[in-house]
Amino acid sequence: MIELSVQLAPKHPHGLILVNPVMTAAGTFGYGIEYSQLVDIQRLGAIICKGTTAKPKEGNPQPRLVEFPFGLLNSIGLQNIGVDAVIKEKAPVWAKWQVPVIVNIAGETVEEYGEVASKLDGVAGIRGIEVNISCPNVKAGGVEFGTSPHLAAEVTATVKARTSLPVIMKLSPNVTDIAEIAVAVAEAGADAVSLINTIKGMAIDITKKKPILGNITGGLSGPGIKPIALYMVYQVSKVVDIPVVGCGGIVSGSDAIEFLMAGATAVQLGTANLSNPAAALDVLEEIKIFMEKEKISKISDLIGVAKN
Ligand code: FUM
Repeated sequence: MIELSVQLAPKHPHGLILVNPVMTAAGTFGYGIEYSQLVDIQRLGAIICKGTTAKPKEGNPQPRLVEFPFGLLNSIGLQNIGVDAVIKEKAPVWAKWQVPVIVNIAGETVEEYGEVASKLDGVAGIRGIEVNISCPNVKAGGVEFGTSPHLAAEVTATVKARTSLPVIMKLSPNVTDIAEIAVAVAEAGADAVSLINTIKGMAIDITKKKPILGNITGGLSGPGIKPIALYMVYQVSKVVDIPVVGCGGIVSGSDAIEFLMAGATAVQLGTANLSNPAAALDVLEEIKIFMEKEKISKISDLIGVAKN
């Protein structure tokens, strides 16, 4: 028997235990409902839904995506149905599921983060909140809160004060020192951190002689960013005493195991879900095969083993 369960919020009064460490990342798995027709989502560690704001958002002008051999540049602009519709239309479905659903939230102001968190508090079907202070694609809010330790801490404290759910802060790689931001949110009461969100970038159409994306810039994800994400997880897990969730370019079990060995307690798959709806389940199976082969009986025996 292999023990795969992980505790994502050990300091939280109720904790947040996942049956395994494989989650799906916000914005790449819809509300989970879309994928439930295609794969057995109940076997996942957790599902994180698309970033949710106080009011519905239409998102950025098209085009919003540029594909590369090594990844994807996106500029969605937090298009979403708004927190009230999430509570009314999605949470009742989630409440019947075994797999925990964590709602990713975003805001243009600190108050908006607090308002969304407070509306989600106590809603059946919602098991945690991931706070997006790292979206590079919106003019107000998003990454602005994730690049200042002071503002990141303020958002964390505000959300924590407005919810009894476990709170995961999603960090941006578009900073000089991600460890400094991680320490700030941990000290402000975050139950866990997830990293990394996308890396800011752009692409130019050389025939039209202009940027391809409607919003000019976007966020890069996919296998090309994995070494950067892995290093940041390694850095952050050395300086915080809360769980770190690793994300960035994971497409295989060995990728996920690298993140666990770097210090992540759990991992999120993002871009991989878009080309293979079963990517997260495949990764879970590959982790199990590795553990069997290496005679490792507990996932905790993998976490942080490559840290020194
Ligand atoms: O543009 C977007 O909706 C992306 C969000 C994010 O990367 O957090």
